Amino acid sequence: MRARILSASDIENIRRAARLVRSGEVVAFPTETVYGLGADATNSVAVAKVFALKERPSFDPLIVHIASMEMLPGVVGAVPEGAERLMEAFWPGPLTLVMFKNETIPDIVTAGLPTVAVRMPRSEVALELIREAGVPIAAPSANRFGRPSPTCAEHVMEDLGDKIPLILDGGTTQIGVESTVLDVTCSPPVILRPGGIDREVLERVLGKVLLAQENDGAVRSPGQMKQHYAPRARVLLFDGERRAEVTAAMKAQVERLKKDSRVGVMVPEEEASHFGSDVLVISPGSYDELGVVASKLFETLRAFDREGVDCILALAPPKRGIGLAIFDRLFKAAGSQIIEVGRS
Ligand code: TXA
Ligand code: MG
Repeated sequence: MRARILSASDIENIRRAARLVRSGEVVAFPTETVYGLGADATNSVAVAKVFALKERPSFDPLIVHIASMEMLPGVVGAVPEGAERLMEAFWPGPLTLVMFKNETIPDIVTAGLPTVAVRMPRSEVALELIREAGVPIAAPSANRFGRPSPTCAEHVMEDLGDKIPLILDGGTTQIGVESTVLDVTCSPPVILRPGGIDREVLERVLGKVLLAQENDGAVRSPGQMKQHYAPRARVLLFDGERRAEVTAAMKAQVERLKKDSRVGVMVPEEEASHFGSDVLVISPGSYDELGVVASKLFETLRAFDREGVDCILALAPPKRGIGLAIFDRLFKAAGSQIIEVGRS
């Protein structure tokens, strides 16, 4: 099979994709965060195809996407009080809420968990696809398992083009990193994955929210593997208090590595001139504009692979706002290791 890439600006193409979903097939579609690989969430045979196509382990549950509040009772049981406020504030948008599931959602979707992750995307194409299909759509990111998430139709083609019938092309996604996954079954709620909605913004609505690592690991997301979002090249992530010291350490490492490997460097544009023409420098933008960096992050990682580098040295972004999500993806791409510079 070779996927057809069809423009999402033609409603007929969205309808075609919706018919495939209704008949138990799997299609790729854009959301405001990354592209998703969607199947009818109420059809366990269709959902099984998603796991198989992605080579995703069956213990890693999927997000169920809905297009209206009327669809919610078909997915979850009781809605916790704080969750209502979050839905009002952030839906449609890049916030996924983990709540107790309704029995109509098959166990395969939630990997046997009593909870389900739900989100109402903001992308008009995604919303239209769900409405036309008339069922909630279970969808992980449309990459092969472990690879950087796709932010355009071509990325999906690269990873899954030979396995699915149709990719709805909605251009480059706006946010570029996945949704924030928030567990609201506990108090205070726990961020299982930082993403498109910032922690600071959630706290303005909810009061205190914890990060999974601040919660003694009591609440965990099965999908938070140590190695994830990774390009083929090895990623080395550099961090430290003083920017000049960190870039000096990166330069020294480049000198050591370039003798026997092709080295790539991912730094903000304000640091790019420190590196010579003997290494491939790709900048996703300025670290003063983290929203731009987020939107280019996964394309940048894939670009290094296209250039065939063996190793990518990356400078950690500030861990505030959407920088926290960018840091998380780079940390996972680096196999959950970090090179701390200047810590005594
Ligand atoms: O922006 C996004 O969230 C994209 C677009 C397509 O919507 N989707 C996405 O899906 O990133 P995926 O499957 O790549 O990531 C879903 C994450 C995984 O880390 C998974 O373990 C977690 O959500 N998750 C899903 N259901 C869960 C549950 N019941 N409890 C805890 N974590 C859950
Ligand atoms: Mg994913």
